[in-house]
Amino acid sequence: MTDAYLLTGHVLTFDGDPFVEPLDTAVQILENSAVLIEDAAIAAVGNAALAQGAQATRHDYTGHLICPGFIDAHAHYPQTAIIASWGKRLIDWLNTYTFPEEMRFGDPVYAQATAERYLDLLLDHGTTSVASFCTIHPESVDALFNAAATRNMAVVAGKTCMDRNAPDGLRDTAKSAYDDSKALLEKWHGQGRARYAITPRFSPTSTEDQLAALGALWAEHPDTLMQTHLSEQVDEIEWVRGLYPQARDYLDTYEQHGLLGERGLYGHAIHLEPREIDRLREIGAGLVHCPTSNTFIGSGLFDLMRLAAGNVRTGLATDTGGGSSFSMLRSMAAAYEIAQLRGTAVHAAQLLWLATAGSARVLHRADEIGSIAPGLAGDLCILDLASTPAITQRHARAENIWDSVFPTLIMGDDRAVADVWVGGQRRS
Ligand code: GUN
Ligand code: ZN
Repeated sequence: MTDAYLLTGHVLTFDGDPFVEPLDTAVQILENSAVLIEDAAIAAVGNAALAQGAQATRHDYTGHLICPGFIDAHAHYPQTAIIASWGKRLIDWLNTYTFPEEMRFGDPVYAQATAERYLDLLLDHGTTSVASFCTIHPESVDALFNAAATRNMAVVAGKTCMDRNAPDGLRDTAKSAYDDSKALLEKWHGQGRARYAITPRFSPTSTEDQLAALGALWAEHPDTLMQTHLSEQVDEIEWVRGLYPQARDYLDTYEQHGLLGERGLYGHAIHLEPREIDRLREIGAGLVHCPTSNTFIGSGLFDLMRLAAGNVRTGLATDTGGGSSFSMLRSMAAAYEIAQLRGTAVHAAQLLWLATAGSARVLHRADEIGSIAPGLAGDLCILDLASTPAITQRHARAENIWDSVFPTLIMGDDRAVADVWVGGQRRS
C-alpha cells in the first residue's frame, strides 16, 4: 500500500537561480497551497497536489512555510561538543580546541554517540542533509554514515586526511590516507543515501604527496565529491604561500595535485584572487559560504554578491563547530548581515535558495534534494512563521508574504521548525 500525505500551507518553489535570474521568476511562494508525498518522494505540488491528494492523509500547516529540508554544505560533526569555544583565531583554535577533541574519535563508541547527537540536532533545526568532515579515523566515518542511515538522511562525508602540521595521533600518511579513503568510499558511496567526499583537510595539513595521492584517488572515482578549505584567514594564506612556493595561489595548491574539479567543495573562500575566482567559475566548482564561522573565528567577509551573482556556484553552511550555530536559519541571518556590511541587501528568496537548492547544486544532488518538485525526495522543513512573541508581533505587521517570512530568517531558531520530513516520513 502506498503512503500518501497531503501537506497544506504556503509552499516554497524554485524555477532558477535567484542570483542570476529575476527573483520573481526564480523563486515563488505558492500561498495556501499543497505538497503531495507518495512513498518516499514528492508526487505533486500546488493545484496538482490538491487535485490528486483527496485520498491522502492530510497535514494542516496553514500559515506555515513548507520549505525543502535545509542542506548544510560544510560542517565538522566531530566538533559538536566544542562549538562556541572562546577567544581564538583559526590556527590557534584548531590547535587548542579542535585537534584535542578530534583525537577522541578513534573510540567508536564516542564517535557513534556524537554522530547520533549531531544528526538529531540538525533535524531539530530543520536540516535534513549535510556535507561533513569526519576525523582521520575511519571509525568516525562509519559512525556518521550509520547514524544517517538510521535516520534515512542524505549525507555526504569523508575521512579527514592530514599527514603534517597536526599532533601525534592525528596524522595519517599519503598511503594510508589513500588506502583508508578508498576502502571507505567503496564501502559507503552510493549505499542508500550516503555519498563519499574525499577530504584533505586543507593544504597546510597535507604534504604534496598526500594531496597527489588523494587527487589520484579522485581521478579513479570521479563520481565522488571532494571537500576541503580554501582561503579562510589571511595568516593561513601566508602559511600556504610558504609551504607551496611554486603554487600561483592557494587554489593552485589543489589544482596542481588533481584536487580542483566540478565536484569539488571549497569551504570559506573569503580572500580570493581574481585568478582564483575566474578559475572556479570556469571549472564550475562549488564554494561554500560559512557566515557564522567567518564572523566567530574572525575570518572575514565572504563576497556573496560578487561570487554567487557572478556565476560561481555557491552553497551555504554552518561550519559547526567553527560556526557558532547548528541552524541554517542563523546562517541565513549571518549571510544577510555580512552582505549588508558589503553594501547589498540579500533577498529572503535568495537566502532560502542558498540554504536549499544552492547547497544541493554544489553537492551535485539537485536531482534528489533541495527543491520541492515532483520526483524529488520528501525531505521538508515546515517553518512556523510566528514561533516566538518577538517574531509574532513583527509578523503581524507584514505587508506581503516575503515580509512575513523574513523575520523568521533573521530571528528564528529551532523553535521555528514546526515539523521535519525525511524521505517522505514525518519525524516523530
Ligand atoms: N581549516 C582547516 N580545518 C578547519 C576546521 O576544522 N574549521 C575551520 N573553520 N577551518 C578549518
Ligand atoms: Zn570547515
